[in-house]
Amino acid sequence: MLRVCVIGMGPIGNRHARLYKQIGQAELVGVCDIVKEKADAAAAKLGVRAFYDAPTMLTVLKPDIVSVTTAGVENGSDHYLPTIQALDAGCHVLCEKPMCNEIAPAEAMVAKAKAKGLCLGVDMNHRFTPAARMAKRWQDEGRLGHLLFINMSMWIMNPNETSPWFHIKSLHPHTVDVMRYFCGDIEAVHCFATKAPGRKIWSTATFNMRFKNGVVGTLTGSYDIQRGHPMERCEVAGTRGRFVLEDMWREVTLYPAGNLEKSSYSNPVFDGMRDFEDTFLNRITRFVEQVAAGTSPDQIDGSGVDGLAAQKVLAAAVESVETGNVVPVR
Ligand SMILES: NC(=O)c1ccc[n+]([C@@H]2O[C@H](COP(=O)([O-])OP(=O)(O)OC[C@H]3O[C@@H](n4cnc5c(N)ncnc54)[C@H](O)[C@@H]3O)[C@@H](O)[C@H]2O)c1
Repeated sequence: MLRVCVIGMGPIGNRHARLYKQIGQAELVGVCDIVKEKADAAAAKLGVRAFYDAPTMLTVLKPDIVSVTTAGVENGSDHYLPTIQALDAGCHVLCEKPMCNEIAPAEAMVAKAKAKGLCLGVDMNHRFTPAARMAKRWQDEGRLGHLLFINMSMWIMNPNETSPWFHIKSLHPHTVDVMRYFCGDIEAVHCFATKAPGRKIWSTATFNMRFKNGVVGTLTGSYDIQRGHPMERCEVAGTRGRFVLEDMWREVTLYPAGNLEKSSYSNPVFDGMRDFEDTFLNRITRFVEQVAAGTSPDQIDGSGVDGLAAQKVLAAAVESVETGNVVPVR
């Protein structure tokens, strides 16, 4: 049984904590927030101990796994400190996205995990679904042939105006991670961005990407569209076929080239995914399974290395909006 603590008890930390209690190989033992009332409320609800500073909790409870669900500037600046503290305490860490809003601290998080030989995962949950796995299987079976292009899009409403780059840095770790999952590393980016009426931040954007393997791709994203209709779509095409993955888990369809019969998977009514929360359950369960199995840190699905790679793509996109240039991913 792996002992688990959660640091940062906002809505997402509470969700992580609640979900660990559903996972057989995990035992939630403590929660921490620098705001006493938040730690106490979560602890009372979950039946575990409350702490108000992470190092004390790590010393007293000695967890095997720590979820870092803090937020901060651009939803990411507060992840660095507790992640480093947990790694220094010998814990495997699952960190929320963006793993950090700046590149240098994100690099330090990855370097620390490597030096300690510990697993660092990032909660880029959107691809931890049966439909995405099926699309990946089709790809691995060669049913797409030589990969050519990817079109990715995601749109939700988020009125946060705290940083001009909030939409790009906070939303798009998810979409870039899905794109990298299917098509590999991205080497150059161009980004146009716009502001919805009344907004001060770059709240809608399109990205043009070139991948290292020659695949070309587009990403369209927005923090300006109310919830309700579908919110995410991923289309990947190669010389032998093309798939369209709708809303992460709802449906994926393979269109074989030159064959009018398509294959389709729809989320089943029984034992299917219930809602967005299940993407968290699947992602967290996978991290627990991999840690329990002694998976090598460099084999972790959705690792810190993947999180860092996504942030570097987004840093290039920000530079592209500022300069108008195509920017290499460094
Ligand atoms: N994966 C997803 O689909 C998804 C969806 C939404 C949000 N998120 C991410 O989840 C994270 C948390 O979001 P939220 O809305 O719950 O944020 P929040 O701001 O409501 O909560 C963060 C909490 O962390 C606490 N905190 C900050 N530094 C701390 C520290 N050093 N030690 C202990 N506690 C500390 C704060 O007091 C706060 O209560 C963000 O990074 C966000 O981007 C992910």
